[in-house]
Amino acid sequence: MSIYTKVSLFASLKMVLCMLPKVSLTPLTTSSTIQVASLMKSTQLRAFIRPSSFLRLASAVPRSPPAITPPRASIPTPTPKRNHFQSRFFASTAIMASSTPQLKLNSGYDMPQVGFGLWKVDNATCADTVYNAIKVGYRLFDGACDYGNEKEVGEGIARAIKDGLVKREDLFLVSKLWNSFHDADQVEKIARKQLADLGIDYFDLYLIHFPVALKYVAPEVRYPPGWNYEGDKVVLSNATIQETWQAMESLVEKKLARSIGISNFQGALILDLLRYAKIRPATLQIEHHPYLVQPTLLKLAEAEGIKVTAYSSFGPQSFIELGWDKAKDTPVLFEHSVITSLAEKYKKTPAQILLRWATQRGLAVIPKSNNEKRLQQNLEVTEFDMEKSELESISALDRHLRFNNPTDYLGTLHIFA
Ligand SMILES: NC(=O)c1ccc[n+]([C@@H]2O[C@H](COP(=O)([O-])OP(=O)(O)OC[C@H]3O[C@@H](n4cnc5c(N)ncnc54)[C@H](OP(=O)(O)O)[C@@H]3O)[C@@H](O)[C@H]2O)c1
Ligand SMILES: *[C@@H]1O[C@H](CO)[C@@H](O)[C@H](O)[C@H]1NC(C)=O
Ligand SMILES: *[C@@H]1O[C@H](CO)[C@@H](O)[C@H](O)[C@H]1NC(C)=O
Repeated sequence: MSIYTKVSLFASLKMVLCMLPKVSLTPLTTSSTIQVASLMKSTQLRAFIRPSSFLRLASAVPRSPPAITPPRASIPTPTPKRNHFQSRFFASTAIMASSTPQLKLNSGYDMPQVGFGLWKVDNATCADTVYNAIKVGYRLFDGACDYGNEKEVGEGIARAIKDGLVKREDLFLVSKLWNSFHDADQVEKIARKQLADLGIDYFDLYLIHFPVALKYVAPEVRYPPGWNYEGDKVVLSNATIQETWQAMESLVEKKLARSIGISNFQGALILDLLRYAKIRPATLQIEHHPYLVQPTLLKLAEAEGIKVTAYSSFGPQSFIELGWDKAKDTPVLFEHSVITSLAEKYKKTPAQILLRWATQRGLAVIPKSNNEKRLQQNLEVTEFDMEKSELESISALDRHLRFNNPTDYLGTLHIFA
């Protein structure tokens, strides 16, 4: 057992013990580890925490070193269940995060199933938002070079760690390689810059943001560089995905990333990548909401042991914010009768129904909110179950409607053609 696991077991136990009037465990020092371990075995404690849920509590911290094992095909993932104890005592406390279910990645690490998305989190309020999100219980943060706020995200994280809200190893920090850094000799340099901006020394997960290589733009020239090389010109690089993936793999070897993955990839390219990957992608992050379900892509990922993270779970909502016509002309999912009637039935908000539709089907979600109340509400989306037929009625809203498509906003780079 690593020291981190011990510390985490310890914190979980301490918390549980606080709720048991008969057990006293003070002072809580390192030397009491054995005491705690033997208490763990006591029936009294076991009555309160089932071993399985206890393991999950402690599993926010990965064992080291993780086994990099090729995934077994097609093992269906049951949605992690929470016991009554957890939901009753942990609701709306900073401990919430420990009760967020974890998904087991093929890299051997666990990833929280619910995280916080950092796109369009304004950099003026970003540090406070991240700090607040940690306080509310978020442990996974989904960032990217392209979001232009990594320094601010780092500030929020540093403050939370300094104030003792969390330790680095309690967090699961995700970032992404931007398109203009796909050339083999650029990947590590930019990863190191991003790590420095965030004030950390490893990513929990680092993704290829889009499967398209653009011509390099130096950070001194423009950062983040965006889609254009200069003016409104989009210029490709000649780097292949194979070249880029191999550079990603070397980040794992150098311990700059614990897990690596892909985003916005489609089936054929994934199958190709799996032919040469020495380290398989741990996750695939895709646009996924009731208007864009992509069931066969989900099947492929599951068969290949790749966990899927859904982005833009609220469909048009995120793009209305950007003023995009396609989003404005689409019926708002929050007001769709299929969604609102389920919200009424389960006494949840439409946003929670949309997020639960994804998490109950085994996907991870990363909703973004600049609002404190909504941010908290979005974390509470693994606690109830809908009927199978209800999940299907949501999936039936599919319109094959993709909002995040470069074809629409650049008029070129038809990666989803
Ligand atoms: N890999 C990729 O290419 C890619 C692309 C897009 C997004 N992503 C990731 O996915 C994350 C989430 O996607 P997203 O930012 O597109 O959008 P999203 O989370 O689906 O939606 C955000 C929008 O919904 C609103 N909202 C949030 N919670 C709500 C609630 N409970 N009730 C009502 N409205 C709510 C937000 O407004 P308020 O802020 O005012 O609450 C915002 O307008 C991103 O932040 C990013 O990390 C990745
Ligand atoms: C926010 O980011 C933009 C673009 O990266 C930058 O110009 C601006 O100075 C930043 N603002 C703050 C408050 O850091
Ligand atoms: C890509 O390769 C072509 C053909 O070899 C070359 O003309 C072009 O300049 C290269 N592009 C970049 C960005 O290096």
